[in-house]
Amino acid sequence: MPTEEVKAEVKTEAPVARIDEIGKHEGQTVELRGWLYNLRESGKLLFPQFRDGSGVIQGVVPKNQAPQAFEALKGLTQESSVIVRGKVRADKRAPGGYELDVSDVQVVQKVPEDDPYPISLKEHGVDFLMEHRHLWLRTPRQAAILRIRAEIIKAVRDFFDSRGFVLTDPPILTPAACEGTTTLFEVDYFEEQAFLTQSGQLYIEATAMALGKVYSFGPTFRAEKSKTRRHLTEFWMVEPEMAFAELDDIMNLAEGLLTNIVGRVLEKRRRELELIGRDVAQLEKIAAPFPRITYDEAVQILHKGHAEGKLDTKFVWGGDFGSPDETYISAQFDRPVMVHRYPAEVKAFYMEPDPQDPKLALCVDVLAPEGYGEIIGGSQRIASYGLLLQRIHEHNLPEAAFKWYLDLRKYGGNPHGGFGMGIERAVAWICGLEHVRETIPFPRMLHRLYP
Ligand code: 4AD
Ligand code: MG
Repeated sequence: MPTEEVKAEVKTEAPVARIDEIGKHEGQTVELRGWLYNLRESGKLLFPQFRDGSGVIQGVVPKNQAPQAFEALKGLTQESSVIVRGKVRADKRAPGGYELDVSDVQVVQKVPEDDPYPISLKEHGVDFLMEHRHLWLRTPRQAAILRIRAEIIKAVRDFFDSRGFVLTDPPILTPAACEGTTTLFEVDYFEEQAFLTQSGQLYIEATAMALGKVYSFGPTFRAEKSKTRRHLTEFWMVEPEMAFAELDDIMNLAEGLLTNIVGRVLEKRRRELELIGRDVAQLEKIAAPFPRITYDEAVQILHKGHAEGKLDTKFVWGGDFGSPDETYISAQFDRPVMVHRYPAEVKAFYMEPDPQDPKLALCVDVLAPEGYGEIIGGSQRIASYGLLLQRIHEHNLPEAAFKWYLDLRKYGGNPHGGFGMGIERAVAWICGLEHVRETIPFPRMLHRLYP
């Protein structure tokens, strides 16, 4: 059966209201435009639930008082689009505090009865839901997560905009690697080799030298072959970069950013946090100062955990932390922990060595509490032309592609640095989600390119 056509003409007789602001219209007749979310039928009474993107409201439709609406709604399929008119009535028992006494209903497009909306209100497996991500987004839980994501992004922008940082957008198509050569997506750029950017950092080092304090916020790409709950192949990163800044300045900035966004989400999106079942008490603990420990101290925590039988294998000094290590370290603290000065060998080529011990890099990873692991990675950048050139060679990177980057050390070099925060990791932590796949409308992962 072909899908029923959309009725393009929409007649308006009452003020159009939004469900999240319906209280402003108490006692008035309003018009809602949205979808039939659920329908309960009880003899001569119908209890439809409508959603309009801003929320869900229950309607009441007695057959004898609203015969037109009753006929239009009876048997109507889930997710059919509708225009509904009715009177707003306060009701303490209703989830949002209001109900709608429906007077008439116009069905805009009816979902076919023989091909119903695939996502019913019962439980579905995650593979099925991912395959129907374009529809899954309509469920209140998914919509709430996306609202929180938007709030986090807005908080990030406000934070930097109000502190003298200028937004500068780096390119996405790049001729060289930033974060190691193993996770590059290659693109054919008119017969020249190019890659999707792994990070805007190298370019915003250049804009920082032009503007002092800058940030970028955009999509970044990693050809991650691993299936973990923390990795996407396409994710959004916010990266601040500051000229004349040292590791402590970078850590202070990261601490300020995280306390700020958590505070904003608690203030503006408490309802959504509660809807998705987040334990907000955990978020209320997030306040400066965050503990700052060295890599060496973090290794001691892991060794102690091993001695107490809480970790299976003994961590060997010199390696990067794996997810279970990060989980264990962060579980010792009730707020994000900043681990600084990792062995230079396991970190990126551009990191400034610690003058106290050049085996170590002046870098920091911020591990989120409750086992969420790394959400921020940052560092002071190598300021010396000679040392940077040496590192480019040691890492087998093509010198020619980095000539412009070396120029930044030739023309007014200075100690500078910044960090990158993965938005999806931050959203997963703040929302308390198992997996990053629910933090972005259409996640891209190994084996996931549809829809
Ligand atoms: O630690 P990373 O690799 O650091 C950089 O890219 C630096 N250039 C940033 C800088 O100093 N300007 O990545 C930064 C953050 C990580 O802490 C994590 O939150 C996120 O980006 N991230 C990912 N998020 C989702 N999926 C992935 N595959 C990610 N890889 C990194
Ligand atoms: Mg990192």
